[in-house]
Amino acid sequence: MADTCAGNGASTCSAQKTLSFMDSRFLSHVALPILCLTPLATLLLFPLLWRAAGAFLGWYLRKKTDGRRCHILELVEAEEKKYRESRRSSTSSGGAGEDGGWEKLDAYTAGTARNGEEGDDDWDGIVGFFHPFCNAGGGGERVLWAAIRATQQRWPKAKCVVYTGDHGVTKDAILARVKNRFNIHLHPPTINFLYLSTRHWVLASTWPRFTLAGQSLGSLILAWDAFSLLVPDIFVDTMGYAFALGLSKFLFPAVPTGAYVHYPTISTDMLDSLGPGSQGVNAGQGAGLRGTVKRLYWRLFARVYSRVGASADVVMTNSTWTQGHIQRLWGPLRSRKAAGAAQPIAVVYPPVAVSELEHEVEVSPATESKREKVLLYIAQFRPEKNHTLILQSFADFLKKSGSEAAQGAKLVLVGSVRDDSDSKRVYQLRLMVNELHIRDRVEFHLDASWPEILEWLRRASVGVNGMWNEHFGIGVVEYQAAGLVAVVHDSGGPKVDIVVDVEGEPTGFHATTASEFAEGFEKALSLPNPYAVRQRARQSAKRFTEEEFARRWTEQMEKLVTVRMGKKRA
Ligand SMILES: *[C@@H]1O[C@H](CO)[C@@H](O)[C@H](O)[C@H]1NC(C)=O
Ligand SMILES: *[C@@H]1O[C@H](CO)[C@@H](O)[C@H](O)[C@H]1NC(C)=O
Repeated sequence: MADTCAGNGASTCSAQKTLSFMDSRFLSHVALPILCLTPLATLLLFPLLWRAAGAFLGWYLRKKTDGRRCHILELVEAEEKKYRESRRSSTSSGGAGEDGGWEKLDAYTAGTARNGEEGDDDWDGIVGFFHPFCNAGGGGERVLWAAIRATQQRWPKAKCVVYTGDHGVTKDAILARVKNRFNIHLHPPTINFLYLSTRHWVLASTWPRFTLAGQSLGSLILAWDAFSLLVPDIFVDTMGYAFALGLSKFLFPAVPTGAYVHYPTISTDMLDSLGPGSQGVNAGQGAGLRGTVKRLYWRLFARVYSRVGASADVVMTNSTWTQGHIQRLWGPLRSRKAAGAAQPIAVVYPPVAVSELEHEVEVSPATESKREKVLLYIAQFRPEKNHTLILQSFADFLKKSGSEAAQGAKLVLVGSVRDDSDSKRVYQLRLMVNELHIRDRVEFHLDASWPEILEWLRRASVGVNGMWNEHFGIGVVEYQAAGLVAVVHDSGGPKVDIVVDVEGEPTGFHATTASEFAEGFEKALSLPNPYAVRQRARQSAKRFTEEEFARRWTEQMEKLVTVRMGKKRA
């Protein structure tokens, strides 16, 4: 000891020396190796720990929700029985089943189901649909309900569960609205609703700054909320919450996941738009410190978004436009992950009630006389639908056009009102109508039922759409299916995909400014042979039928069911 002390210099006290001696040995033999190895070990262990944490949490959630699962299965069985009995008694008493649309499914359940090659017709698991705003009544909801109907028809024994935040709306009320608004008849016993209590976390208003990241974090909370209610056998997100899919994979690797993407949360356009010499809303914002931070934030977000999105087993997009963007973001990781086995991203066009409209709305020389000079605009009262532009154009049209076309012409606005701000907007539109002195020429029909909408599609001559850069425009397809001459914004899907020439002849008109719209109205109402244009419009709409949607949806779902059945057997 003394030797070492001397060797280390005499001025320090021996106690310290002992310590420093210990330190150096400790350092070289124990601490250093540990210090060097820890990052390496962490690096190696982390994925394992991460997976273990996921598995543990997943196990915890399964345990927690097992009771509810049993309860739901019992409920379905009981309701199925009741449903059958009530139907039997109504048929035996001679009452015609009012659920005409459901006959087909009953035939399935009665044992005439096709004998699928894969033998999965009897699959009776639970499909969880993540759609927190299921009662909103928009195009996204139509996709949800049509998807559920297609699933019910293909797998009559499967149970569909919708995770929604629409509290205080009962199952009966939701199904009644689905029937009323979309004319979609679901089989009530096998569908159930689970109510989420944390929906406010995904509202943009909750996250005034860093909205993208905030809402995504919110969707994680919401998805956790969902899984604390029930762990499904297959998990499908129909609202674009990619983070919910990522969480599902983290917690339940054996649960196959599917995504139906309407719109990428961050688009490659956005990422590019900050660059020098770019155009668009964010042009020029890439400069300076702010720009750098923003760019970093978006890049980082896009990374994480791609990662969680790529975890989905099956991905569908509602249009070619969306497919292109999702492919660029998720594609690279997807193909790497599954070693080339990843399913290609499929385009599944949203269903439009084309066949039903063809059936309900007659287009013939005889019905020409029943058409009135009605310009019909069917759209939710959202700001981007730009009702003010249409009102202004209509006023211009009436004022400028001394022609016959404007005589007795009417503008009919049909749309759903989702909340207070929609109501406020309608109020302001009514004020505007007064100011423009066109009160007796404009009608509002709020929350119109499907029969009412059909009636307007029969009476109207022209279908209007004022939204800039709409990526598709289901409403415009509906106009065409009903034989209306379209006057639509000269941008987006209505321009590129929908209101296109058929056999080299136009099916409608494109416009941007109020005066162009006014001109469009004038032209549409003074066509020499409107019937010919109506026939072409109808032809054009055939590309977007419900049957086509159901066919494509089922094709993708079959992949998920196959994976699920394989996992169960394994
Ligand atoms: C409505 O259209 C006008 C004219 O094209 C445009 O200036 C305005 O920004 C649009 N409003 C919205 C909310 O898109
Ligand atoms: C896809 O969804 C987006 C967002 O809801 C919508 O703007 C677009 O029109 C949809 N595309 C189709 C083909 O319906």
